[in-house]
Amino acid sequence: RAAFRAALAERVRAAVGNGVPEPTVGLVPTMGALHGGHAALVRQARAENDIVIASVFVNPLQFGDPADLEHYPRTLEADRAILGAAGCELAFAPDVQEMYPGYPDAPIVTVSAGRMGEVLEGASRPGHFDGVCTVVAKLWNITAPPAPARLRSYFGQKDAQQLAVLRRLQADLDVPVEIRPVPLVRSPEGLALSSRNTRLSPESLEAALVLHRALAGLREDADAGRPVGLAVARALVEAEPLARLDYLEIVDHATLEPLSAEQLAAPLGREALALVAATFEPVRLIDNVILPAA
Ligand code: PAJ
Repeated sequence: RAAFRAALAERVRAAVGNGVPEPTVGLVPTMGALHGGHAALVRQARAENDIVIASVFVNPLQFGDPADLEHYPRTLEADRAILGAAGCELAFAPDVQEMYPGYPDAPIVTVSAGRMGEVLEGASRPGHFDGVCTVVAKLWNITAPPAPARLRSYFGQKDAQQLAVLRRLQADLDVPVEIRPVPLVRSPEGLALSSRNTRLSPESLEAALVLHRALAGLREDADAGRPVGLAVARALVEAEPLARLDYLEIVDHATLEPLSAEQLAAPLGREALALVAATFEPVRLIDNVILPAA
């Protein structure tokens, strides 16, 4: 951590020395097991900043199930190669004791996502978003570059609820960081890239495309200025024998509050978010699409 901060400070000094008055530092927080979705975050950070850094840390606070934490893939050497190839110059990969000295008796003081952490993903993963907020707040503090540099932090639209919660964390606690969203990266067939996809059977991989089809239908409705067919989209997922639908909701993209029946009966008055979660045994997948206002 001290070595990481010293290396970052050195890069800031070098940038200032090279005539950049206010260098920007792009941070890409990850849990490793990196794929093309993560690489897109790093590439966007590279395109937008003078200095690009990443963190690789499997955060125990955001896992409810100890088995899930234990089985989370750890591929640090491959991750470093992917980060480097995408333009990251400095990676912070602490162990648990470095991040949370005294763990599991620490941390004692944590960050709460409030009601935004209790809905949608939070309803089936209690405490998950509190764990995300706590680790991201720490990462922002640890990677805060010395003046005159400024910090930007990159998050994927893939985890739309996480992005919405972290925007509130930044705003509600006045954290001096600029949040930069990155569009969701899909496979050529339309499946949202995720480290969990490798655990899907060939049949489930095929079946999981129903999520994207259902969301694409909603997006078509919104693009055409029609009321969006939420019931149709839900029925499409429910008709897939290998899928168990957890939720498919249309929510305000900032507050995550569901649109009312009246709002859904008319063309969308403002931008909304369609979010879906479904299990393809044993893998739970999430996906989403932004629905533009009519
Ligand atoms: P992780 O799941 O490793 O994801 C790291 C970042 O990559 C997140 O911002 C996520 O939204 C983004 N990402 C993953 N798949 C993507 C895809 N297909 N398209 C676009 N972006 C994608 O999210 C976490 O880690 C953790 O919760 C973290 C924020 C690091 C805190 O521990």
